[in-house]
Amino acid sequence: MRLWGKATAGRTRRRMLCLWLLLLGFALVTLALSGLFKRDRERSHQKPGPPRRPLQRIPSAPDLEVIVESRDPALELGVDLSPLKTLQEDELLFVPSTQGTKTPPQKKGSYKVLLPGANKDARATAPPTHGEMGKAVRLNLEGAERDAELSAVQKYGFNEAVSERISLRRRLPETRHPECLGKKYSESLPSVSVVICFHDEAWSTLLRTVHSVLDTAPKHFLQEVLLVDDLSQHGHLKSVLSEYVSHLDGVRLIRSTRRLGVGGCRALGAARAAGEVLVFMDSHCECQKDWLEPLLERVAQDRTRVVSPIMDVIDWQTFQYNATQWPVRGVFDWRLDFYWESNPQLQDKDPDSAVQAVRSPALGGGVVAIDRHFFHSVGAYDPGMLLWGEEQIELSIRVWSCGGSMEVVPCSRVAHLDRHHLPYRFPDQELLQRNKIRIADTWMDAYRKIFYRRDTLAHFIRQSESPNITERLRLKRSLGCRNFHWYLTTVYPQLYIPQDRPALSGELYNVGTGSCADYPRGHGLQGGVMNVAPCSGTGSQHCDLNTEFEVRWGPMGALCLDVRGERAVLSPCPTQRPTPSRLRWKFIKLSGQLVHQQSQSCLEAVKEGGVPQSSPREVNANTGGLFLRPCTHHPRQQWHFEQLVAPKGT
Ligand SMILES: *[C@@H]1O[C@H](CO)[C@@H](O)[C@H](O)[C@H]1NC(C)=O
Ligand SMILES: *[C@@H]1O[C@H](CO)[C@@H](O)[C@H](O)[C@H]1NC(C)=O
Repeated sequence: MRLWGKATAGRTRRRMLCLWLLLLGFALVTLALSGLFKRDRERSHQKPGPPRRPLQRIPSAPDLEVIVESRDPALELGVDLSPLKTLQEDELLFVPSTQGTKTPPQKKGSYKVLLPGANKDARATAPPTHGEMGKAVRLNLEGAERDAELSAVQKYGFNEAVSERISLRRRLPETRHPECLGKKYSESLPSVSVVICFHDEAWSTLLRTVHSVLDTAPKHFLQEVLLVDDLSQHGHLKSVLSEYVSHLDGVRLIRSTRRLGVGGCRALGAARAAGEVLVFMDSHCECQKDWLEPLLERVAQDRTRVVSPIMDVIDWQTFQYNATQWPVRGVFDWRLDFYWESNPQLQDKDPDSAVQAVRSPALGGGVVAIDRHFFHSVGAYDPGMLLWGEEQIELSIRVWSCGGSMEVVPCSRVAHLDRHHLPYRFPDQELLQRNKIRIADTWMDAYRKIFYRRDTLAHFIRQSESPNITERLRLKRSLGCRNFHWYLTTVYPQLYIPQDRPALSGELYNVGTGSCADYPRGHGLQGGVMNVAPCSGTGSQHCDLNTEFEVRWGPMGALCLDVRGERAVLSPCPTQRPTPSRLRWKFIKLSGQLVHQQSQSCLEAVKEGGVPQSSPREVNANTGGLFLRPCTHHPRQQWHFEQLVAPKGT
């Protein structure tokens, strides 16, 4: 019933659309009618009743599409969206092409950087892309072009309007080290299944990813590309995608009828994959030439090795291709956020080596290659990991702790589109915290307290509910995995382990201003000027005065309270011991003074708009911040370390 109701409403809306289009001119009407004509044909695929006109069967392989019902209801996200919910609005943007245009374009597009001002020209000269299909209606709204770009960014988290104008098969600039170019790889590498999960991905980025794999991976190694649709709602990802995929050699499409999240979706793809090695790839990537062989070689040499290419970056606004500097490796902080760390101090490698793989404490989820049997034996993905990013931290700790290793392979490069924001909402606002709680409680032993102090929302959620990690703990026991202490000392010794002593760690609260010492997130790992701000209560302002007299800041604990002139700043913590006196602080509990050891001055907070006591020349009178001043008993020099999470909690 519901389907027919939808269809009637749809017909009414279509009629209104036609009327409106009539006003725009005869040519447009013709276009719209032809669009409607085809849309009807599309629609008849979806209807329960008999089709009105005979379907034009695609001769080749309609059985490529498998609909998979997820068996475990615990895996779903709790969303019950009707699959047709957004079909209507998407169809307005999407006029299926005429015959023939759905076969992949044969000519190679050239690599092109589009500057914002050059959009008009680019449209005229860029090779036609499949995104063009989606623009038939929009083309006529010239005035609204800017709006369209903005809403494309809203919808996808990147400038999809620019992406549409770039060829699906663009050539990438060479970013590999010259020594990589001549490397020879074995002819007998294992076969590979590339698993690409997607949810409401844009047409252009998804298909560019697929073509990029098909164009770069040697045919004799590439078993298949498995597209796994994690219950997308956008119309273009439905029958049109099925049809498009049916024309591509070696590409299969699997659809889940429930929202699985990243862990479940990738595990589903892995369960259906036949290749000896699995490559999990995000649905908005572009591969460099010869990216696959170096990865396969490392896995073939040791089946417990999990490897990643260097992830280059595609700019979300311009789609410019930005190379990432080597060396780089994957790390995470005490808030369980992942980073690619550039130029790490590599302990076990010759830093001059441009072509040797480097061990990495963690790997990002953009592209990761793993032996299929090892993947399954080590516990696949935690299906409770729903959010992109967290699944990879869980995998990293697990692989290392349970007998495997991870590395970044520099002669392999794949670019990943870093989105501006995640375009879709999860019904669960605290999903990120719930995913992190699973990691903390499964893998971090007593060290999890350090996490909970730096993410108090996770702490409060954990107070009122427990994650169901029974299966994961059973797995950990049966695999005989090592503990987190081993991981920290052996795999990731560079991570500072906070001491978090009571009354000497927490938010640094200033009595005189009623604010807390603050350093805005995203100001970089190099440090900068400290400030005062309202106390966040989230753990984001957590710091730790340790037994070396350093005030360690941030979720990595890698920045130290330092001074520059009269200002308090953060700078990267020293590696040598003992700590230089410039970075040493003493907290006098009785008076609340925080005394800088070198200058014997006290830390004073100045609120924005307040005038500092002395040398007003040095600072703009309107800037607040933290300053070194001669010690007094003024409340602006009185501090408390406020621990938000009791030391014994959780
Ligand atoms: C890519 O590089 C350009 C200029 O070199 C820079 O402006 C842009 O921010 C970079 N984009 C990303 C995502 O790093
Ligand atoms: C936890 O999950 C397991 C299976 O993963 C299930 O058997 C068990 O009933 C669940 N426990 C609770 C309390 O939901």
